[in-house]
Amino acid sequence: MGLLAAGFSALLAPGHASQDFRAVVASGGWHSCALKRGNGAAACWGADDYGQSSPPKGRFLALGAGKAHSCGVRPGGRVECWGSNEHHQSESPEKEIFAQVACGAAHSCALSQDGEVHCWGSDEHERSSGAPVGRFVAISASGGHSCALKADGTGACWGFNEYNQTDVPDVLFRQLAPGYLHTCGLNLQNETVCWGQKRGDNKPPPGRFKQISSRGPFTCALETSGRAVCWPQAEQRRDGEALQTDQVL
Ligand SMILES: *[C@@H]1O[C@H](CO)[C@@H](O)[C@H](O)[C@H]1NC(C)=O
Ligand SMILES: *[C@@H]1O[C@H](CO)[C@@H](O)[C@H](O)[C@H]1NC(C)=O
Repeated sequence: MGLLAAGFSALLAPGHASQDFRAVVASGGWHSCALKRGNGAAACWGADDYGQSSPPKGRFLALGAGKAHSCGVRPGGRVECWGSNEHHQSESPEKEIFAQVACGAAHSCALSQDGEVHCWGSDEHERSSGAPVGRFVAISASGGHSCALKADGTGACWGFNEYNQTDVPDVLFRQLAPGYLHTCGLNLQNETVCWGQKRGDNKPPPGRFKQISSRGPFTCALETSGRAVCWPQAEQRRDGEALQTDQVL
């Protein structure tokens, strides 16, 4: 089964209608999580071998999903994680007040209420200690790298950089979507821009989009009509990390 099929069929929660959820979905390696309408509880489905699809009860404000772990922001700003803790990726800092969280394969990053990036878990390729200093408004993470966006559209990515996937081009962005060996984003004109590894002479689709999301070698973008367009941006590589990403769709 292709990654795309697996990743995206995971978006259809068995036994739930889409209107049961707020439009916040985090998809990881082989599982996905969404916030329920009404009580704000986390619901996860897909792989649960590490308990990554068994969230604690209670209300969450935001979610992230990694390879085999998930994290959520509680009202009040504490981050709570569940699932694999092999690299201490589920041990969130206790004293910070967070607003957003994103999970990679073996690390997690969160944005504090005042816009600072904090990462924990594996520090291979400085995926945790490489977090940029400054004030950011959005955070996203994937297998081995993460990206954050400033209010003025300046982007920063850090971590695994084998294909220069963390070398953000000198343009302003509205959104960043790290994959595994590549990164894509939407520039201020809402066009797709991708860098890092490329599959052949694959080009991202032309046009304007309202959202973008990557996982593994794939990227999907949402047209203003609501139609999703997906393409393989990078080569698929099955070396254990290629399947891990986190995105809020
Ligand atoms: C990454 O960037 C450096 C410096 O521009 C370049 O020399 C290198 O070939 C790039 N690596 C890949 C895999 O594209
Ligand atoms: C880009 O998208 C945003 C949000 O959907 C919208 O407000 C803005 O007008 C768009 N800009 C362009 C140039 O299409």
